[in-house]
Amino acid sequence: MTNTFLFLLFCSLIRSSASNKNALHDYHHLQRGSSLSVADASHLLTSPDKSFTCGFYNFQRNAYWFAIWFTNSKDRTVVWTANRNTPVNGRGSKVTFRSNGAMVLTDVDGMVVWETNTTSTNVNSAMLLDTGNFVLKNHKGQILWQSFDYPTDTLLPSQTLTKSKNLISASRKGSLESGYFHLSYNSINVLTMVYDGPDISSVYWPSPDPGFNVWAYGRTSYNSSRIATFNDFGVFTSSDRLQFSALDMGLGIKRRLTMDYDGNLRIYSLNESTGLWSISWQALAQPCTVHGICGRNGICIHGEKPRCSCPPGYEWSNPTDLTQGCKPTFKKRCKNSTRFGFLGLPYTDYYGFDLNFSSSISFESCRDICLKDCGCEAFSYRRTGEGNCFAKSVLFNGLQSSNFPGTLYLKVPIGMETLDNILSGFEPTCVDTTIVVGSSSMGFSYQELMKATQDFKVEIGRGGSGVVYKGVLEDERVVAVKRLEDVSGGEFSTEISTIGQINHMNLVRMWGFCSDKKHRLIVYEYVENLSLDKRLFSSSFLQWDERFKVAIGIAKGLAYLHHECLEWVIHCDVKPENILLDGALEPKIADFGLAKLSRRGGQNSEFTRIRGTKGYMAPEWAHNLPITAKVDVYSYGVVVLELAKGIRVSSIIVHEGEEEVSELMRLLKVTRRTIQEENELCLEEIIDPRLEGLFNKQQAKKLVEIGLSCVEEDRNKRPTMDLVVQILNDCESQ
Ligand SMILES: *[C@@H]1O[C@H](CO)[C@@H](O)[C@H](O)[C@H]1NC(C)=O
Ligand SMILES: *[C@@H]1O[C@H](CO)[C@@H](O)[C@H](O)[C@H]1NC(C)=O
Ligand SMILES: *[C@@H]1O[C@H](CO)[C@@H](O)[C@H](O)[C@H]1NC(C)=O
Ligand SMILES: *[C@@H]1O[C@H](CO)[C@@H](O)[C@H](O)[C@H]1NC(C)=O
Ligand SMILES: *[C@@H]1O[C@H](CO)[C@@H](O)[C@H](O)[C@H]1NC(C)=O
Ligand SMILES: *[C@@H]1O[C@H](CO)[C@@H](O)[C@H](O)[C@H]1NC(C)=O
Repeated sequence: MTNTFLFLLFCSLIRSSASNKNALHDYHHLQRGSSLSVADASHLLTSPDKSFTCGFYNFQRNAYWFAIWFTNSKDRTVVWTANRNTPVNGRGSKVTFRSNGAMVLTDVDGMVVWETNTTSTNVNSAMLLDTGNFVLKNHKGQILWQSFDYPTDTLLPSQTLTKSKNLISASRKGSLESGYFHLSYNSINVLTMVYDGPDISSVYWPSPDPGFNVWAYGRTSYNSSRIATFNDFGVFTSSDRLQFSALDMGLGIKRRLTMDYDGNLRIYSLNESTGLWSISWQALAQPCTVHGICGRNGICIHGEKPRCSCPPGYEWSNPTDLTQGCKPTFKKRCKNSTRFGFLGLPYTDYYGFDLNFSSSISFESCRDICLKDCGCEAFSYRRTGEGNCFAKSVLFNGLQSSNFPGTLYLKVPIGMETLDNILSGFEPTCVDTTIVVGSSSMGFSYQELMKATQDFKVEIGRGGSGVVYKGVLEDERVVAVKRLEDVSGGEFSTEISTIGQINHMNLVRMWGFCSDKKHRLIVYEYVENLSLDKRLFSSSFLQWDERFKVAIGIAKGLAYLHHECLEWVIHCDVKPENILLDGALEPKIADFGLAKLSRRGGQNSEFTRIRGTKGYMAPEWAHNLPITAKVDVYSYGVVVLELAKGIRVSSIIVHEGEEEVSELMRLLKVTRRTIQEENELCLEEIIDPRLEGLFNKQQAKKLVEIGLSCVEEDRNKRPTMDLVVQILNDCESQ
């Protein structure tokens, strides 16, 4: 009787205020017997301070969720949904606070898709608190049900996470439905992040690396209370001793802790004047360490923007959703082991699912273990130490990163292992081993580029791969347009998408390309000033500080290409002519990424054309050894010595009779002798006399030492570009 009365009262309230819709936004309570209907978008509950709103949230067309969101965030960020995986229809669905005490969500056909466990209790009011907690209370104010007990992907300040509550990511960016990444306590009381997909389940945080031990991460498994809190200061504390806090720690900022769709856990802080969120903490610095992110057989390529790729011989299971992984293009029959071979993927691994682990064994024995076992899909072999062998039964959690010490050998049918000749090189060459999709650059028509360059009128450079012309685009950007020769269309677009994603201040940026009938062109930013050779071997030479800055800049650009860049592009032609200086004398390396293009032009997959410039080329080229990033290190060494000495040390001089000696050889001979005799570098003999002694001795010494170590005959003795950057950075401020 009372309930019916309240219901009628509520209805009349709505009716009476229908002319004044704003009044409805101020509802803070919902009484037993009343309902919120999806059909009337103004049926909303707000928290007393208006931070949160509760009501029907429309995300896709005709898909509604009963949800709570931040009122003042620009994109109405949802923090909770009642019917997470069962959206309701836009017509006729409603949330009713039934007279029996239950709050239920019904779809258009009257079917209950969600309800609270408050049937037959004395609850009499529902309200949204300032914390974002939606609660059902009785007349004494006791909370009998609260949304905080049923988190979706977000934890709000003052909300606790317990052993029975998980945060589960959304399935995609912007989606509300649940995905596969969980934040939960495991059986030994440790808060972990797990990929829990349809095929596998795999823990990735704390890092499960070999030697995994929760103590190493400052956690404990001895506290079985399994409870964590996130407070108003932005501090998260868990019973396993995990603690972290937002960068902007302190009161007065609205925050949320969200298990994101990409498998990372983040704290976000709201800027109330813009309504935008900023990340104020995140669990993983490197997105590829999340497991399962690229699906079965897929490989996550480490980089500024991580990407999924398929290994050779595999294709996307679903090209519109790369998280579904890759499937082989061949049939896996393993009755006859002689029918399989192996394809090597350097710097690659699939984490977990080891069929067999053996240490101290040879590469051949490792291969045989995998060959003999029908269930083996690949093996990973690490030469570091005595030789560790991991045979894999399932390929999941694929990762490619230049930091990774091993090579993965995929089991493929005989004949396929010669694909791209990857197996022959245990080290990366200018070969790319992955299939790349997507491109961030613009395609131009040949007509457009003809117009931009006024029919290729102004030639500004000429290199191994083609001639470069100056041009002006329709939007008035000044560009350098390079015309390539001998490059096939398919390879071109694959490579272009790689180069297009390279973005570093010390590398000339590619803006677009043209692949039109037989024409292949690349459009680069135009760097206004002169190339390094013109500012080094002429009367307008650079001062010491400028030279040192240039040396660091080139090293940074190369380090990015070798170590951070998605596919470890090797430049193969580092020389002063390819180093452009902008107005602020910041160096920008030009002409990278083309080594691969040129190589692919040939019939067989070997380098058909030696790339590089005499005097800057590492001895490996002459000795027919595999080409690695160390060829660039060598060339960099020559350039550095030229920066120091101010002359072309790469030039060949005829010295002492008929013997052809390069200036470099002579320089090496002299410095080695002085080091031997005086135990000290004699800088005065090396540094450019035109500087008249005006140089920083510490820096000069370091630079010459680096130059000398980079031009070591034995490439293993040469440093990596990462190390060079580190050393130069350390003495930059001296
Ligand atoms: C409803 O369920 C929650 C969580 O399981 C529990 O804490 C609460 O006591 C239940 N409420 C009632 C009235 O049974
Ligand atoms: C376990 O964790 C809880 C919550 O963090 C804490 O209150 C309690 O003191 C811990 N117990 C022990 C034995 O450390
Ligand atoms: C919020 O954003 C505005 C505009 O970008 C900025 O000026 C302001 O400093 C930001 N406030 C906070 C607290 O970060
Ligand atoms: C396995 O394959 C090889 C080559 O195809 C063939 O010569 C050999 O007879 C096969 N062995 C069996 C047991 O089928
Ligand atoms: C791994 O394979 C080797 C060689 O077949 C075998 O001796 C060893 O027992 C295997 N180890 C495991 C853990 O299966
Ligand atoms: C090139 O660099 C010099 C400094 O060496 C500067 O004076 C000149 O303005 C620069 N030119 C352009 C176009 O940036």
